[in-house]
Amino acid sequence: MQASLELRSPIGVFDSGVGGLTVLQALRRRLPNRDFIYLGDTARVPYGRKPPAMVTEFAHSIANFLCGLGIEGLVVACNTASAVALSSLRESAPVPVWGVIDPGVEAATRATRSGRVGVIGTKGTIASGAYQRRLEARGIEPWAQACPMLVHVVEEGLAESPEAELLAREYLRSRPEIDTLILGCTHYPLLRNVLQRAVGEQVRLVDSAEVTAELVSAAFDQATDGDVLSRGRVIHFVTGDPLAFAHTAAVIGSVEGEIISLPIAELASTQVPAGE
Ligand code: DGL
Repeated sequence: MQASLELRSPIGVFDSGVGGLTVLQALRRRLPNRDFIYLGDTARVPYGRKPPAMVTEFAHSIANFLCGLGIEGLVVACNTASAVALSSLRESAPVPVWGVIDPGVEAATRATRSGRVGVIGTKGTIASGAYQRRLEARGIEPWAQACPMLVHVVEEGLAESPEAELLAREYLRSRPEIDTLILGCTHYPLLRNVLQRAVGEQVRLVDSAEVTAELVSAAFDQATDGDVLSRGRVIHFVTGDPLAFAHTAAVIGSVEGEIISLPIAELASTQVPAGE
């Protein structure tokens, strides 16, 4: 498969679905000549309510698959997987691995004036305490809220719907006074307008995409990227329905690149044996 892809030193990016495309877009703005392989595990979305051990297993199998395609770095563009699997991925992967939680914390720390920060994410991310621990270590006592239904709204292409408005208001109803809200799920930037209306203009919404892209691009040799005159290519692998993925990606304005169907059985059977 590696030869037929004909990508130059690609970076691998994955999420449970379309949410990680928000991170991919930021990466491509910073590394326009770089090739990327995106994997959306849409057959198994949502990760947010699955047990941590299961999400960890999914993440390792995806990392293994992408490493087998010759990626030079791996971006875990999923907060839930970053919360539970980042350290073990870093230990086992033969390439540098970035998550999205530290960048989200960094973005919030840069943005807040009052130190009153909220974080919303999947059940798994919020239950892991990954954001809360990091923010507390910086002297910030966060308000945290799981918003499990929001991922479905995005995956169904309903980001600008009355249902999205209703859910956002409901989830954010009990928030204390905050000046910054971390969108701790890579699907949520696609609901930015709805979330902004729910919290009011005075609250700054921050997500991990830009800071993650900043960190990843700093690690790659810009000179090498500059030598390549053509714009980088993107190939998407999706474990679920490629047409549904293409539709949602189009709704959110990210359609560039070929979409290849990757049934779970094939993902599992293309594993590179450990140590190779
Ligand atoms: N977009 C992912 C995240 O950042 C996962 C959402 C889900 O699959 O529940 O957590």
